[in-house]
Amino acid sequence: MDFPERSTGRAHSPAGDSMKHEIRRIARDVVLNGLFSSSIVPTRWRWRLYNFIGLPVQRSYIAPGVFLGSRQVFVGAGTFLNSGCFIDGAAQVRIGANVSLGMRTMVITGTHKLGSSARRADESVSMPVTIEDGCWIGANVTILPGVTLGRGSVVGAGSVVTKSYPPNSKLAGSPARPMGVPLD
Ligand SMILES: CC(C)(COP(=O)(O)OP(=O)(O)OC[C@H]1O[C@@H](n2cnc3c(N)ncnc32)[C@H](O)[C@@H]1OP(=O)(O)O)[C@@H](O)C(=O)NCCC(=O)NCCS
Repeated sequence: MDFPERSTGRAHSPAGDSMKHEIRRIARDVVLNGLFSSSIVPTRWRWRLYNFIGLPVQRSYIAPGVFLGSRQVFVGAGTFLNSGCFIDGAAQVRIGANVSLGMRTMVITGTHKLGSSARRADESVSMPVTIEDGCWIGANVTILPGVTLGRGSVVGAGSVVTKSYPPNSKLAGSPARPMGVPLD
């Protein structure tokens, strides 16, 4: 059986994507997530390149190997995105100021309606994600569509965040649950 190709991090679209769409995807994957994201660019300068091509990224630290899926990813000042983070950008992602995202953390905004057994991943749906100022997200965390993490929250390594939490939450696990008392 043939499986139609899907572009990484984008909502599924039927075969026969327009030429314009393909050119945009190539620009994204070769320039933004290839050249700009490579180790030849110092972490402290990368935001300038992103800014130059019109991405809403403030003075931040973006390690090599970070994948940004679209122009809808906002990054606040003083934020650190560690290597291998994957931010799909099917809907808006707002990452506030002074946030830290650990290695290989995934922020996912796209999902599907549940379909019949012939195709469970039915119609594409996307919901925004917000990570407010000051949050610390550990390594290898997955944040699902529609989540807002209140400012100053902490998420332990390897957690899967399935719903929104208020400021100063301290969460861990899959699904992520509050651990101990909320932070000051
Ligand atoms: C979330 C975190 C900050 C909590 O630290 P802490 O407050 O010192 O918590 P503790 O180590 O005292 O652990 C408290 C409990 O939570 C559990 N726990 C801690 N981190 C956990 C995690 N990531 N997932 C699941 N459970 C976790 C501990 O096993 C312990 O359980 P117990 O009470 O049953 O023994 C830390 O564990 C963590 O995940 N840090 C991120 C590390 C990382 O990703 N670094 C790279 C990027 S900066």
